[in-house]
Amino acid sequence: MSEQTIALVTGANKGIGYEIAVGLGALGWSVGVGARDEERREAAVEKLRAAGVDVFGVPLDVTDDASVAAAARLIEERAGRLDVLVNNAGVTGGMPHEPTKVDPATVRTAVETNVIGVIRVINAMLPLLRRSASPRIVNMSSSVGSLTRQSESVARRSDSADERGTGPISAAYAPSKTFLNAVTVQYARELRDTNILINAGCPGFCATDLNGFRGVRTPEQGAAIALRLATLPDDGPTGGFFEDAGVVPW
Ligand SMILES: NC(=O)c1ccc[n+]([C@@H]2O[C@H](COP(=O)([O-])OP(=O)(O)OC[C@H]3O[C@@H](n4cnc5c(N)ncnc54)[C@H](OP(=O)(O)O)[C@@H]3O)[C@@H](O)[C@H]2O)c1
Repeated sequence: MSEQTIALVTGANKGIGYEIAVGLGALGWSVGVGARDEERREAAVEKLRAAGVDVFGVPLDVTDDASVAAAARLIEERAGRLDVLVNNAGVTGGMPHEPTKVDPATVRTAVETNVIGVIRVINAMLPLLRRSASPRIVNMSSSVGSLTRQSESVARRSDSADERGTGPISAAYAPSKTFLNAVTVQYARELRDTNILINAGCPGFCATDLNGFRGVRTPEQGAAIALRLATLPDDGPTGGFFEDAGVVPW
């Protein structure tokens, strides 16, 4: 088996995921570019290779059992194990998000990708991660999933308060990230006697397709927290929720 660290980033064809692939590649790692669309995946792989990153394309739709199983087989055949999994793929699910107006299908879409997709990918990759000396799982969450910050925004009677990272009122995207955080803690509990560290990270409000490029940070800045959590030492935290400035309150 290769000495080189092997990573998989889901939704790596653009935005923050692409920059996570750049950052992990800069460490000399071999990075699987997980992406559901062949053209977008190949374009990203080509661009990353041209930038000197050691990458391989991984066809991957996180909402599809067969696709995720095939991705695990591809990594097993190529590398025999997985050291780092970054669950970055995410969607807002559609609009509107206000609880009184939301289409239940919007909630379902957000949860299907942002939560169930993550569970599906982790469970498929776990046998490969268990073969690593220092496995790390990073779930790209969001501070909009912080119930503490959301309830503070209710108390302030301010419904956007972007400076605190609460985002717009949302019955779909924000709660899907709260759910993801809760799931992250449950994995950490189950895996606490293993060498697998699993944490949730918030990239901050970054200019990407997800928000019509309204974010105030660059995708590269957003990738930094994922890189930090992907490279934690063996005695690093697990079951936590972090942003660049430190711990995010639940
Ligand atoms: N941007 C922000 O301000 C911000 C803030 C907090 C958290 N986040 C989180 O950071 C992560 C990356 O977001 P981003 O801003 O970089 O968004 P983005 O530019 O829209 O990228 C999202 C990525 O996820 C992929 N994706 C969506 N559904 C997928 C599926 N079913 N299977 C596989 N890939 C799928 C997309 O692929 P396609 O190109 O095929 O659609 C794309 O590669 C997300 O989890 C997001 O919730 C972002």
